[in-house]
Amino acid sequence: MSTTTAFDIDSIRSDFDILDQNINGKPLVYLDSAASAQKPNQVLDAINHYYRHDNANVHRGAHTLGDRATADFESARDCVREYINAASRKEIIWTKGTTEAINLIANGLSQSLAPGDEIIVSRMEHHANIVPWQMAAERTGAVIRVWDINAAGELCLDQLQDLLNEKTKILAITHVSNVLGTINPVKDIVKQAKAAGVISVIDGAQAVPHFQVDVQALDCDFYVFSSHKLFGPTGIGVVYGKEKRLEALPPYQGGGEMIERVSFEGTTYNELPYKFEAGTPAISEAVGLKAAIEYLGNIDRAAMEAHEQGLYQLALARVSEVPGMRLIGTAQHKVPVMSFLIEGLHPSDIGTLLDQQGIAIRTGHHCAMPLMQHYDVPGTARASFAFYNTEADVNRLFDGLIKIQKMFV
Ligand SMILES: Cc1ncc(COP(=O)(O)O)c(C=O)c1O
Repeated sequence: MSTTTAFDIDSIRSDFDILDQNINGKPLVYLDSAASAQKPNQVLDAINHYYRHDNANVHRGAHTLGDRATADFESARDCVREYINAASRKEIIWTKGTTEAINLIANGLSQSLAPGDEIIVSRMEHHANIVPWQMAAERTGAVIRVWDINAAGELCLDQLQDLLNEKTKILAITHVSNVLGTINPVKDIVKQAKAAGVISVIDGAQAVPHFQVDVQALDCDFYVFSSHKLFGPTGIGVVYGKEKRLEALPPYQGGGEMIERVSFEGTTYNELPYKFEAGTPAISEAVGLKAAIEYLGNIDRAAMEAHEQGLYQLALARVSEVPGMRLIGTAQHKVPVMSFLIEGLHPSDIGTLLDQQGIAIRTGHHCAMPLMQHYDVPGTARASFAFYNTEADVNRLFDGLIKIQKMFV
């Protein structure tokens, strides 16, 4: 196992076996990390080790393997707590991912919503941060209010004070847009929400892979993310919630683990965080997520961010070489996510033709149909960069786009 102490791209890439292969006869260029990131070998090794040596169910306590599995699983919770600087391990709830995390929160908060109450979401949200709120609104008679964005794909910050009123109960906003790459000024937004007595829910799915997040500094009520975008396995994600907020929420699902005592006369619920974790949890996935976070801990994060921004600047500098290329999302503060269109070419054709050259991007509506409607496009092509990408990857993308453009337009 290599240990990366500084930002050394060759050493980093040697930790990702999957990147070292040919696709359609060409070396793979993976530019779809915003959909799901690749996992370093250390994550795969940790999962493998867990299943080979420690596998058992957790919280049962009757034998050594069970104790080991429980220790592994709970130490992953401690690792996440530390990674996002939550005040207590009680505030870290495991879910299947961001989607389930938002559903858990929306379901719980909907119990205290009344007809006419308002929920603010922005126009740049992923469906995972729209639909659970619409469902909560349908159940309760609450109303969704939409926060607009400008042409660059930034929130219209002036609008927030007009949106917040005595009926506003919840503000659900993404930290980073999966389509536009925009980094929203969440700390300031939360401050305004808090001053208005509004509960803040932050979708951090696209933020945590790119920069350090401190939930206490942000002061948000809830923060959610998925492991698989954070270089960990699929099937696990996190709800961070302030302890008092989580205490006030009813359980999400009923079953084993989440109870204190069950009888036909009535059931009492377990303490935090277990109150929200019904059934056997995703144990090996937690182990893998811990390994991913530890891996990131060995990288110089400032150097990593500089590397990613360098890749994005290089990409930006080459846009003018592709006739008819139009960027969707030109915010001032962005993570390295580039959504684009090329005149005369359908996004899905761009994706297919790049794949023939070994280059993986994503195309379509990116689970953000209202945003597509806003820009009046059916979809976009999207190249998303991670710290394991190189300048050569950026150049391969642009050389590929130029070739496609010449062939088909
Ligand atoms: C901003 C954002 N929110 C939520 C999600 C949903 O995440 P998951 O599918 O892991 O639940 C995604 C996934 O692309 C996302 O980009």
